[in-house]
Amino acid sequence: SASGASPSSDTNQARDPHTLRSSRWFAPDDMRSFGHRSRLKGMGFDDIDYEGRPVVAILNTWSDLNTCHSHFRNRADEVRRGILQSGGFPVEVPVMSLGEMMMKPTTMLYRNLLAMEVEEVLRCHPIDAAVLMGGCDKTVPAMLMGAISADIPSVFLPAGPMLKARWKEATLGSGSDVWKYWDERLAGNLCDRDWNCIENCIAPSAGTCMTMGTASTMACVAEALGFTLGGAANVPAVVAEHSRLAVATGRQAVEMAWEKRTPSSFLTERSIVNGVITSLAIGGSTNAIVHLIAIAGRLGIELTLERFDELSRITPVLGNLRPAGQYLMEDFYHAGGLRALLKELGELVDTSCQTISGVSLGQQIAEAEVIDNDVIRSRENPLAVVGGTSVLRGNLAPSGCVIKALAAEPRLQRHRGVAVVFDNYAEMKAQIHDPELEVTADSVLILRSAGPLGAPGFPEWGMLPIPQKLLQEGVRDMVRISDARMSGTSYGTCVLHIAPESAAGGPLALVQTGDEIEIDIPGRRIHWHVSDAEIARREQQQPEPKPLADRGYLHLYAKHVMQADKGCDFDFLVGRTPGAEPDIF
Ligand code: FES
Ligand code: MG
Repeated sequence: SASGASPSSDTNQARDPHTLRSSRWFAPDDMRSFGHRSRLKGMGFDDIDYEGRPVVAILNTWSDLNTCHSHFRNRADEVRRGILQSGGFPVEVPVMSLGEMMMKPTTMLYRNLLAMEVEEVLRCHPIDAAVLMGGCDKTVPAMLMGAISADIPSVFLPAGPMLKARWKEATLGSGSDVWKYWDERLAGNLCDRDWNCIENCIAPSAGTCMTMGTASTMACVAEALGFTLGGAANVPAVVAEHSRLAVATGRQAVEMAWEKRTPSSFLTERSIVNGVITSLAIGGSTNAIVHLIAIAGRLGIELTLERFDELSRITPVLGNLRPAGQYLMEDFYHAGGLRALLKELGELVDTSCQTISGVSLGQQIAEAEVIDNDVIRSRENPLAVVGGTSVLRGNLAPSGCVIKALAAEPRLQRHRGVAVVFDNYAEMKAQIHDPELEVTADSVLILRSAGPLGAPGFPEWGMLPIPQKLLQEGVRDMVRISDARMSGTSYGTCVLHIAPESAAGGPLALVQTGDEIEIDIPGRRIHWHVSDAEIARREQQQPEPKPLADRGYLHLYAKHVMQADKGCDFDFLVGRTPGAEPDIF
């Protein structure tokens, strides 16, 4: 079960309330502080509720439009209970919710906005420590990025995955099995009634996608970085242990306030490397690379695609989890969870790294054991020897691109084929299933205008659908290339994150149907077989790009978002402003 700090401490050692950040709001005998205190009184609090106590904020990404966080109202009360147990003053602060299922065009458009909100909410309030409640994909990196930049003690509480879904004999996994059965439906193998049954049962509880999609990947990364209590990443959202985890996390935050355990006090470049290795060893989402680059950037650490690929070449995949493997998060939890997997990785993990608990990662995983060695493989019997995700380069992707090689059919690991190009998503959607479309199983499907600027927002369109006529012939994988991302629950031979993207003047903009393209995953190469002279000729005929928006958030976004190889943070958000707080009252 998840470990936590023991309930407090106000018994043994005296802790000086004047060292608390919040004391700058509440302690002085001046008019402004009178205002702060009198309005707390107006809320029904007495001196004893807050005097000398750390203020612990519960940053809650609950929303009725975030399907994965529907248990967060109750969990926030449980976190509150833990904060009270340890002598803190709990305050719940709602922040923007990013729910994958409802937001268009993509939550990725708003990751940096939530990161900014978290940073500024922490900065401007009398907050000594925070519990960050997130889970659905982008909420994880966004909250970590904001907390790192504000550098205020913060502990992450993952929403936890949904329970497993069952349909007839099959176990269903979020996302992955939707794509799979949708293809079967298009191929004519599934009736409407079955399709409706799947709709009714594929999301059986509150919580995040229970495959090793982006949410589960980033929860594991957060734990490996030391940002959660040990064991937090895999506890299913609706089991009793998740409630106990929430209470323990609240207690932990109070300790962190006294200890001033800020992100910069325990996170190092070695922690980031642990995060990368973890994302690879669990067979995690390709999105992790974008988020880890951005998280590292907030710490002032440059994580390059090269470094990521180097680590990919030495990291075995031990998590046998969908979409790369077989099992679901509930199985992972019962098999020993992330701590057991990290222990199995041995010397690949730097166990001297510190965590929010004030213990090393090594201490945190010391007692862990693998219960089921088919779910968590040994290093002698990995799901794949190396290479969860690979970085390719070539004249089509001068700044790199990525592919989850593990989720690609072996016959396509090296492939040369003729391009079928779609200018944008609408065109692709209108044409892909057209029986007249000239396409074979060996074609290379290309989608552009789907990057950070192009779509805009870098949507998860990278797993282009297989044309229906090919599905009916039994084709289930093809080479697909785009400047988009792909859902962590997706699979197939999909080359993603082409940088620079087409809308930023990348060569992908110039590819035409009929060009030959070659990918060589073991050789880490992507080559567009067109002469430099022809490329130069096409370049001259390119129209000037139009600005994305004249006003609003999109205007700010387009002006400042960086390309995929730089993590898509805003250029002005890189780094942190430690300890900064409003000085003038
Ligand atoms: Fe929220 Fe998948 S939709 S985690
Ligand atoms: Mg997702």
